[in-house]
Amino acid sequence: SSPRPLTLSVIGVGYLGAVHAAAMAELGHRVIGLDVDADRVAALSEGRSPFHEPGFDELLLRNVRSGRLTFTTDYAKLTDVDVHFLALGTPQRADGLGADLSYIESALDALVPLLEARDGKPTLIAGKSTVPVGTARGLHARITAIDGVALAWNPEFLREGFAVEDTLRPDRLVYGVADQGNASTEISLLDTVYAELIGLEIPRKVYNFESAELVKVSANSFLATKISFINAISELCDVTGADVNDVAEAIGMDDRIGAKFLRAGIGFGGGCLPKDIRGLLSRAGELGSVDSFAFLRDIDAINTGRREYVVRLAKRLLDGTLDGKRVAVLGAAFKPDTDDVRDSPALDIALKLYSEGAKVSITDPAANENVRRRYPSFHVEDSVEETLRDAELVLLLTEWKEYRELDPASVRDLVATAQIIDGRNALDLSAWRAAGWQVEALGRP
Ligand code: UGA
Repeated sequence: SSPRPLTLSVIGVGYLGAVHAAAMAELGHRVIGLDVDADRVAALSEGRSPFHEPGFDELLLRNVRSGRLTFTTDYAKLTDVDVHFLALGTPQRADGLGADLSYIESALDALVPLLEARDGKPTLIAGKSTVPVGTARGLHARITAIDGVALAWNPEFLREGFAVEDTLRPDRLVYGVADQGNASTEISLLDTVYAELIGLEIPRKVYNFESAELVKVSANSFLATKISFINAISELCDVTGADVNDVAEAIGMDDRIGAKFLRAGIGFGGGCLPKDIRGLLSRAGELGSVDSFAFLRDIDAINTGRREYVVRLAKRLLDGTLDGKRVAVLGAAFKPDTDDVRDSPALDIALKLYSEGAKVSITDPAANENVRRRYPSFHVEDSVEETLRDAELVLLLTEWKEYRELDPASVRDLVATAQIIDGRNALDLSAWRAAGWQVEALGRP
């Protein structure tokens, strides 16, 4: 028997919320996405994606057309909802300490009267946002007196670039609840939401709030640690002649270590890993574990240090000064298959080169508009050819497929000096060298 379709709301249709909303509609539910940003709501309502994400455009359009997926700016439309998902941003606070929870707080303020009007009908609020451990317990205290209303924390593990796949085929579902011995409303509603995934034998774990919150930030902090670890090793490779790809390959064959997230290069960026390690560090400090989390400060410092490292390398290749040098940068997004430039290592390096006087031209298959909007005076090109033309140094900083597959012989003629920094260990070094390029890879001889 097919599961009962529910009526769901997704409050906050940024990256995470929009993908979650469309994916839940795909599972057969009726979904209303809410956001305060009227332009975003208008675009999504017409089935137009506000961001670049493989597979999302089709998913969105299909579900908007079917009528299962709608969007609104108006909380009054969220009556008769079985499960409200909270997918609001929890940005780093301006003082750098901890997360700004004000968007979640105001959503809850707006929801409370609607929840009270349900007259005891079971309703679940399911938090998806990444929050400091302890947050759900505090929010729970606010709604516990409302009859029939429950709260769960249901963290999301999707990766940009694989968001649709990760939402519809996650490694695991985690339900954080107030009381594991008394959570039948939370479990039965979430199990109905995810019935199709549970049917695929995707593991589903019920934990307390605190564990569920910590799973999320621990996972991201562990991933960040793997990347900074291999980047630290890559610096030793550079001075000794070892090859970091070989080291990563062989240690990754030990399945206690695992092969993934050991790609050395210019380090991690994006809206999650950098923010989450800083968030965990600050929360750990508040909870009295300052010393045990000092390593996260190092993970962060190693990561940002990679950006400086590449700028120094560029300067060395350009005879000691960047001033007036024509530098071409391939890639601006924080990783391939996204147009997201939040805390992008590629863009950060490009800006550093520029601030030291280089004439930087940059291109990205998806992020050009986002770069132009943020840095109107920055020189953004739409084609690889125009970007490379007359360059004295090329830097490959986001490993898009189209850059990995460039033909070194044919682009050789575009540049003034055939030298390239492979910031992502993405190129076939021998092929590029055979075509007459001087290639500097990070951690590779
Ligand atoms: C990350 C996590 O991987 C997701 O599981 C999580 O749900 C998400 O954050 C989130 O909290 O929302 P995402 O930020 O999309 O996902 O990107 P990742 O694929 O984790 O990549 C992060 C950065 O690490 C990128 O800049 C990437 O280039 C870099 N990276 C990744 C490396 O430098 N080396 C690697 O081996 C892997």
